[in-house]
Amino acid sequence: MFPIEQIVRFKYKYIAKPFLFRRDPEDVHDTALTLGKTLGKSVLVKSFFCFCFVRHDEMLKQTVCGISFENPIGLAAGFDKNAELLNILPALGFGYAEVGSVTGEACVGNAKPRLWRIPEEKSLRVYYGLKNDGAEAISARLKGKTFGFHVGVSIAKTNSPATVETEQGIADYIKATKAFRDIGDYITINTSCPNAFGGEPFSDPVRLEKLLKAYHALHITKPTFLKLAADLTHEHLDQIIELSNTYSIDGFICTNLKKEHGEKGGLSGKAVESLSDDMIAYIYKKVGKEKIIIGCGGIFSGADAYRKIRKGATLLQLITGMIYEGPQLISEINRDLIKLLKKDGFTHISEAIGKDVL
Ligand SMILES: Cc1cc2nc3c(=O)[nH]c(=O)nc-3n(C[C@H](O)[C@H](O)[C@H](O)COP(=O)(O)O)c2cc1C
Repeated sequence: MFPIEQIVRFKYKYIAKPFLFRRDPEDVHDTALTLGKTLGKSVLVKSFFCFCFVRHDEMLKQTVCGISFENPIGLAAGFDKNAELLNILPALGFGYAEVGSVTGEACVGNAKPRLWRIPEEKSLRVYYGLKNDGAEAISARLKGKTFGFHVGVSIAKTNSPATVETEQGIADYIKATKAFRDIGDYITINTSCPNAFGGEPFSDPVRLEKLLKAYHALHITKPTFLKLAADLTHEHLDQIIELSNTYSIDGFICTNLKKEHGEKGGLSGKAVESLSDDMIAYIYKKVGKEKIIIGCGGIFSGADAYRKIRKGATLLQLITGMIYEGPQLISEINRDLIKLLKKDGFTHISEAIGKDVL
């Protein structure tokens, strides 16, 4: 391991984490956002972070749906909901980030408390309820700006009784999508937020088709991915894959949070890892490289990332691993991925995709 990563890992584990994990999780999240926003303004800090955490390696570079990614590790939707961290995230080694989920209207989210740590499961219970500044404000924040990497936008429907009916829900997605027509590099349709009024109605194939039809009619030219619920059956996935062909969807993010019967919110991290792994493998078996799979759920190490790639993921996303392991994790994963690829005789990441499945 590179010495600076080792030092940061040690300090995070023994100094920062014990202190942070005693505080309220949402307060810590808010502090991280404020700190990240402030640090992102300093050229000096960014240069230092880049020196510590950014490695360029041809083995990890990929062009996916016309977008060139320096490395496969992205920040998953939900950490930078309002697109405030995009100046600092590339300096932590991320290859891209997904902001949001952004909804048609601004939303304060569910009542607090709405975020809990479950250390014994290396997981978080999330019940934010799509808190965000809304499509208008967030698209204005991004307009005309470029960052050191590519930015995706996760679109969901406003968490409100006014969007529970299918038609109103679709209108809300469409409003948010229109705001980002020319902003951001790709769009993710989050069909699967478990924390909103009316549950996740767009996980249902009949309603999903209505949504995709309306989305398709907008003739969005950038890549579009569907973020999938963690607990979809194979039959359900088959129907979604079929819809993705009809409506020109480029790929899938596997997966969102894991729902638990009778519990508020959904679980991230290790609690969702195996569901994510299984779904990646299932979809890859069905579609091969026809669609892009973005693996998300429980990535805490280079080995976790590599396993998802071998199951069929082209790109990856994470949040919880960074919270449990520290901000050096992204750099460590990229470094370890290179080692693991070389160990298995690969010269480029693309050669390893789906190797354990086909
Ligand atoms: C605090 C938090 C907030 C989240 N909010 C969203 C969200 O707004 N939209 C979304 O699509 N997923 C959201 N997620 C789910 C993550 O994007 C991801 O699918 C899930 O956490 C699994 O990845 P992980 O194990 O690396 O955290 C959230 C996750 C966390 C931990």
